[in-house]
Amino acid sequence: MSEHSSDKPWGGRFTESTDAFVEAFTASVGFDRRLYRYDIAGSRAHARMLARAGILTEAECDQILKGLDSIQADIEAGRFEWSVALEDVHMNIEARLTAAIGEAGKKLHTGRSRNDQVATDLRLYLRDEIDAVRAELLRLQQGLLELAEREADTILPGFTHLQVAQPVTFGHHMLAWFEMLERDRQRLADCRTRVNIMPLGAAALAGTSYPIDRAYTAELLGFDAPAENSLDAVSDRDFVIEFNACAALVMTHLSRFSEELILWSSAQFGFVDLPDRFCTGSSIMPQKKNPDVPELVRGKTGRVFGHLMGLLTLMKGQPLAYNKDNQEDKEPLFDTVDTLKGSLRVFADMMPALRVKPAAMLAAARSGFSTATDLADYLVRKGLPFRDAHEVVGRAVRHGVEQGRDLADMSLAELRGFSERIEEDVFAVLTLEGSVAARNHIGGTAPEQVRAAIARARTRLKA
Ligand code: ARG
Repeated sequence: MSEHSSDKPWGGRFTESTDAFVEAFTASVGFDRRLYRYDIAGSRAHARMLARAGILTEAECDQILKGLDSIQADIEAGRFEWSVALEDVHMNIEARLTAAIGEAGKKLHTGRSRNDQVATDLRLYLRDEIDAVRAELLRLQQGLLELAEREADTILPGFTHLQVAQPVTFGHHMLAWFEMLERDRQRLADCRTRVNIMPLGAAALAGTSYPIDRAYTAELLGFDAPAENSLDAVSDRDFVIEFNACAALVMTHLSRFSEELILWSSAQFGFVDLPDRFCTGSSIMPQKKNPDVPELVRGKTGRVFGHLMGLLTLMKGQPLAYNKDNQEDKEPLFDTVDTLKGSLRVFADMMPALRVKPAAMLAAARSGFSTATDLADYLVRKGLPFRDAHEVVGRAVRHGVEQGRDLADMSLAELRGFSERIEEDVFAVLTLEGSVAARNHIGGTAPEQVRAAIARARTRLKA
């Protein structure tokens, strides 16, 4: 980057040049250059609108468009020299354009300000990133559906309070994750509708005296509409916060999945095996295979939460309209986007490769009296009120705990010691397979329901 601190685009009213440290302190080009494509797209549309409205000649517009094309090519080829003295991505590109094409370049900023420009760039950028995030979410969801289908009959203990509760199917468990992500995908689609509104034309804050055609610019850029109010348009960053809130929820979900994968892949659970390529070893303990990926995703969730709080705080004290504070929106937003996309990508890659260990899950489900509720329900069907049935089964479980044996391992005579209503048919309900198969309604864990839910999920993904 050139350190040159001459001729600022706004230098006219200044009598001394910027303090060297202040120049570096106030510059954003180090990070906002990421927006170059959107800045150029916005400038192209703005120039075309100006020409159509007769504010620029067609020849000037052509020069601008060609100049912007070659700047984009230079940036993409790594030939563009970014200058801190030129502060931000907007002034870097504009200065280069003017250097390349002369007078016409100086006219590009007619009827525009960096305030509406940066808000526009950010919205164009975020719109693309939302699409990319939603595509990764979809890929992860599809992976979960495949896994759910493969393991629709596989039984594991379901937990409440992290204590064995009732048996569930692994497919059902994967579909729970799917639902969380489906809400995330919908939330992001909804968020996108508010992102896709165009600030351009708001200029610095009050609009512009040129006969601009905002609807035309909006159409060129694929925005749904121009922003209604110029003051709001340049100062609003709700859409950044809203996106970050959506991202925080996605990360919450990934963090919860991570926590389960970490537990499940421990020697104590042994429910799943993470593929080696998603794990690392220990430099001292040769036996170790650490679940780094889920641990990191769980850890990275914290920074996304932090960015959300940072952005809310950034906005809370700002009077209308644009304030330089807003420059601080970019680094948290970019980091949230990168963290979110990276976490989704690694999950989408990892989940289809997850190795499930049905024997360990089955053994765990067998050992925790997970069919106790089934026995109570059985007694209810035999005429006992539920509260009494609960009491009877509680005593049977206490006996089992003392003996170190599950309900299904007790003899009929033993079970009848707790209630005369128990008969030979009790063993059908005490099996894990019987227990899951019995929960056969929409939203239930029965394999049949899991398969039906997968079919519905696939249809929903197509909608
Ligand atoms: N770099 C600035 C930002 O990110 C661009 C807008 C600057 N506008 C201004 N009036 N200084 O917010």
